Amino acid sequence: MPGFPELRPRRLRLTKAIRDLVAETLVSPSQLMMPIFVKEGIKEPEPIPSMPGQYRYPPERVVDVIREALDLGIKSFLLFGVVPDEKKDLRGTYAYDPRGPVPTAIRLIRRELGWEPAIFTDVCICGYTTHGHCGIPVERHGRQLIDNDSTLEVIARIAVTHAEAGADFVAPSGMMDGMVSAIREALDDAGYTEVGIMSYAVKYASGFYGPFREAAGSAPRFGDRRSYQMDPRNAMEAIKEAMLDIEEGADILMVKPALAYLDVIRLVKEAFPQYPLAAYNVSAEYSMVKAAAEKGWIDEKLVTMEIITAIRRAGADIVITYHALDVARWLREGY
Ligand code: PBG
Ligand code: ZN
Repeated sequence: MPGFPELRPRRLRLTKAIRDLVAETLVSPSQLMMPIFVKEGIKEPEPIPSMPGQYRYPPERVVDVIREALDLGIKSFLLFGVVPDEKKDLRGTYAYDPRGPVPTAIRLIRRELGWEPAIFTDVCICGYTTHGHCGIPVERHGRQLIDNDSTLEVIARIAVTHAEAGADFVAPSGMMDGMVSAIREALDDAGYTEVGIMSYAVKYASGFYGPFREAAGSAPRFGDRRSYQMDPRNAMEAIKEAMLDIEEGADILMVKPALAYLDVIRLVKEAFPQYPLAAYNVSAEYSMVKAAAEKGWIDEKLVTMEIITAIRRAGADIVITYHALDVARWLREGY
């Protein structure tokens, strides 16, 4: 390699056209997946205080926001159900009721928009249980444990309910061991061999989920999630988790959160380059940007694009982000 003065890296940075020509990382709206909160029992979209610019939508209004996103080139969506406390129990049984908010929204989407949008659904019980855990608590030797295998039966039923309503993909997020194979088997037994699984394969026990738990009413009422979500100190364990989910039949893998785990995204992508990798730019990653921008401390567009680009550069094929609509608008404007 020549050195200075023959080599002047700045030549490749002089104009926007040249910078765009040599850019290594591209962000396109079709790589963005937009999370949507669907809430039972409301008539109008309801702003989420902990996530400025985000709303909980009644099932009847989800089609509107998806239409808006499709117009901007966003084609995939991740639905979360939000239900009143009266519908919650120990096992989260309302999560597999076909009259629940998520199946209802999916049926309306299919009626109005057909299969143009790709509909992914979060499969977990925390938003449907009185205790707010992603698994069913049991007492053993005088202590509370989150029981793995009885939870699998419930999440398998939820996945089938979503498939029946017309989901493209189901996305189990509870970090129960064996959740992918339990779901794959249940979907196949029910005849839904075409429905895919995007596994929250590498999901850390994170403080960055705080705003989401407020939005979804899914915070644990006792203890925390550290007995099932991963320890943030571990990177190599991500390979084990990803490997297991691949063996169990996952079609798409996910690392979550994204921003504090760019190293893990890179590690998983390099270990399993054959598998599409999603990274979840989670709620507090979003809300921190919004809060600092509201205070005038950062340039929201610049910082958001930098974050989304960094997640792509780290190796994510898909970025799940609450910034999706904003990013798609900025891309359209040629930011
Ligand atoms: C629940 C779930 C969580 C998120 C997605 N699914 C919260 C949690 O695990 O406590 C977090 C998403 C976000 O923070 O944006 N299983
Ligand atoms: Zn959960």
